[in-house]
Amino acid sequence: MSKLLLNAQIVNEGTVFHGHLFIQNQVIEKILSATDDYSSLISEHTEIIDLSGYYILPGLIDVHVHFREPGLTHKGTIFSESRAAVAGGVTSALDMPNTNPPTLTEKELDEKLAIAEKDSFVNYGFFVGVSSNNLEDVLNVNPRKACGIKLFLGSSTGNMLVDDDQILNTLFAKARLPIVVHAEDEKRINENTERIKSQYGENPPISVHPIIRDVEACYQSTKKAVELAQKYNTKLHVAHLSTARELDLFSNVSLLEKRITSEVCVQHLWFTEQDYERLGTKIKCNPAIKSFADRNALREAVNTGLIDIIATDHAPHTREEKAQTYFKAPSGIPLVQHSLQALLDLVHQGVFSLETIVQKTAHNPALLFGFEKRGFIREGYFADLAVVDMNTSQTINSTNILYKCEWSPFEDYTFKSKIICTFVNGNLVFRNFTTPQFKHSTTYQL
Ligand code: DOR
Ligand code: ZN
Repeated sequence: MSKLLLNAQIVNEGTVFHGHLFIQNQVIEKILSATDDYSSLISEHTEIIDLSGYYILPGLIDVHVHFREPGLTHKGTIFSESRAAVAGGVTSALDMPNTNPPTLTEKELDEKLAIAEKDSFVNYGFFVGVSSNNLEDVLNVNPRKACGIKLFLGSSTGNMLVDDDQILNTLFAKARLPIVVHAEDEKRINENTERIKSQYGENPPISVHPIIRDVEACYQSTKKAVELAQKYNTKLHVAHLSTARELDLFSNVSLLEKRITSEVCVQHLWFTEQDYERLGTKIKCNPAIKSFADRNALREAVNTGLIDIIATDHAPHTREEKAQTYFKAPSGIPLVQHSLQALLDLVHQGVFSLETIVQKTAHNPALLFGFEKRGFIREGYFADLAVVDMNTSQTINSTNILYKCEWSPFEDYTFKSKIICTFVNGNLVFRNFTTPQFKHSTTYQL
């Protein structure tokens, strides 16, 4: 069975052009311009899909998700969250190790890979976590089984904090996989917490979150990680930058020259501290959403190349968990289904170009994590594609939220654009032509 996608605006590698894609055996076999004759490609086994008026983007590679399996399946599963992901145009996802049990050894990686092979709608990769007592395991993990090493320099959901300098030095000196760091200074956060508790007691307003997890906590910790990587020439990716100040620690040379790269997540590009009043603990996440000036600096850094990747840190918790008071409510926001729609709104607002979105969500993730034949619309590459209608709006509500936790910070918000369908390895896995429909296909370990 082959597929011919006709008459779309195709966004790839800095350009947008009108054309057609011919897909066969999971790959993009041919890219044609709008005026090319495609009749010789059609056989009785060709499915023709007219995409007039729509854009085709390389499917998003979200390098930072928490799908919660195993052990936290009341919040989400690989099945439920990857299904939400394809409905958002995401075709590959890299999942974090703070599950239960945490992913600290090859055995736990094998267990996750087995679940994903059976249940995942998207191509997948798993990070192995480093803790205070698994350094040998992490350094010796089969690099084909893990996409990177996740290091928490500040504790968050799951408590996988590593603060022993000797472990950190050995890790940075010997790691064969890229290290992805969550950088927030624990000591500083604890001091800020004590101060806030003495001021407000046990139930402060949510607006204290960026005061507890403040700019300085992010800056000091990111600086420490960057200095360790410079000392040992380690491949380091700093997750979810949230402050203008941290940007001083990065450069905008071309991606292929970088050993140290950076990521921003959609929530830090979208919300500001003014949103705490309206959304409360729903937008409590680590690192915290900070000021308007921070958000604007992060947006600008995406455009100048100081920031290489846009991800989500998709981190679902139940409504009941989030409804608790400030200190008790867990940090994390479900986002994987709505990141592309949010970014397309920012395109409508003139903040980013479509080409930049595609670079930061597909091209750069593929290059940085070494995924072969993905992340670009090129002949011979896997047909991982998101099709969007830039000009049909969609209001987010309980009828279309697919997360297991059944809520979103975007509830009742109307996005200007809509995801029409998603292809993973050439298969139409999600379509929203009239009513949403899903189909499982064969997915791959990245
Ligand atoms: O807000 C967050 N939630 N930050 C993290 O680092 C972890 C995540 C989660 O797993 O809930
Ligand atoms: Zn995370």
